[in-house]
Amino acid sequence: MPNFYPIMVAFAILMLLLLVCLVDAIPTTLDGPFPPLTVSLDDSGFRGNAVDLPGTDPRVRRMVNGFEPEQISVSLSTFADSVWISWITGESQIGEDIKPLDPNSVASVVRYGSLRHTLSHEATGYSLVYNQLYPFQGLQNYTSGIIHHVRLTGLEPGAQYYYQCGDPSIPAMSAVHAFKTMPISSPQSYPNRIAIVGDLGLTYNTTSTIDHMSSNEPDLIVLVGDVTYANLYLTNGTGSDCYSCSFPQTPIHETYQPRWDYWGRFMEPVVSTIPLMVVEGNHEIEEQAEHKTFLSYSSRFAFPSVESGSFSTFYYSFNAGGIHFIMLGAYISYYKQVQVAGKRPGKCR
Ligand SMILES: [Fe+2]
Repeated sequence: MPNFYPIMVAFAILMLLLLVCLVDAIPTTLDGPFPPLTVSLDDSGFRGNAVDLPGTDPRVRRMVNGFEPEQISVSLSTFADSVWISWITGESQIGEDIKPLDPNSVASVVRYGSLRHTLSHEATGYSLVYNQLYPFQGLQNYTSGIIHHVRLTGLEPGAQYYYQCGDPSIPAMSAVHAFKTMPISSPQSYPNRIAIVGDLGLTYNTTSTIDHMSSNEPDLIVLVGDVTYANLYLTNGTGSDCYSCSFPQTPIHETYQPRWDYWGRFMEPVVSTIPLMVVEGNHEIEEQAEHKTFLSYSSRFAFPSVESGSFSTFYYSFNAGGIHFIMLGAYISYYKQVQVAGKRPGKCR
C-alpha cells in the first residue's frame, strides 16, 4: 500500500495557505460573487469633528509656475476605448475686481502612448473658464483658471497608457502620468476593484479615506455627490461646519471657490492615474448670479454625456468591463417631456 501521508500533509498545508490568503486579502469581483460584506470602520485615525485642510497645507497649494498644468485627472468615456483627461492652467482670481482669463490663450493637448518614452499620439480638446459671481455688497467674485478637457480615442481595452498634458507651444507640459483603460465589456470581464465614495470634502478625515482607498488599488473611483464642501464657506474664506447656524444673514448662500482648487490639487496624485466618475450632490448647487447653479461641478469634471446620449452633466452612462453604470443625479427632472424640451442642465431648484 503506498504511503499517502506526506501527500495529505502537503495538501493540508496548501489548503491552509490558500485560506490564509483568502482571509488576508480583500476579494476582488473576479473571485465572487459573494454576499455583501460590511467591514467595521477602524476609526482610530479619525477626528470626531471634521477639520478642513487649510489653504496653507502643501497638498493644496498651487505648486506650478505660469501656465503649467495642475489638478490633472482622468475620467472614463462611455466605452473602454476612450478616456477624458482634464487639467487646469493659469491662476484663479477672487476679489471685487477680477478679470477672467481667455480660455483660448492656452492650448489643450495630450500626448500619449503605450510606452513611457514614446508618446507618439496626440489629441486636442477644448477649454473654458467659469465665474462664480455674487452681485451683493461686500461679497467677492471668483474666476477660475483655464479648465481643459481632452478626449483620447482608439485605445486598447485593459491596457496601460502614459500621457502628458498641456500646451507644447508655451512650452508647458505636465510630467508623464499613467492610467489603465477598463477591460473589454463582456460578462466575463470586470475591473478588479471599484471604490465608491460620497460626501468626500477636504478634511483631515478625507485624507484618511483617500489613503485607505488608494491602498486598496481601485481601478475606478465613483464619487456619488458632495465633492468639496466649498459651500460651507463665505467668499471671504471663513468656513463653518454648519453654514446656516454660523451665517444666517447672508444675502445668498455663498461659496469659497478656491476650495475647489485645493481639492483638485489634493486629489491629483490619485485621479491623474485612477479614473474618477462624479455625479452631483446638494453641495454642488452653489447658486450664484442670475440663479446659475452647478457651474463649478459642470465645468471642472469631464462627463461622457455626449457619448452616452444624455447631453447633460447630471446624468450619463458608461461601461466598466461587464458593468454598465447609469449615473442619475438628483437635480434634474427625469420626466420624458422635460428631457426632450431642455437637454441642458439649469432648471434645478
Ligand atoms: Fe451628503
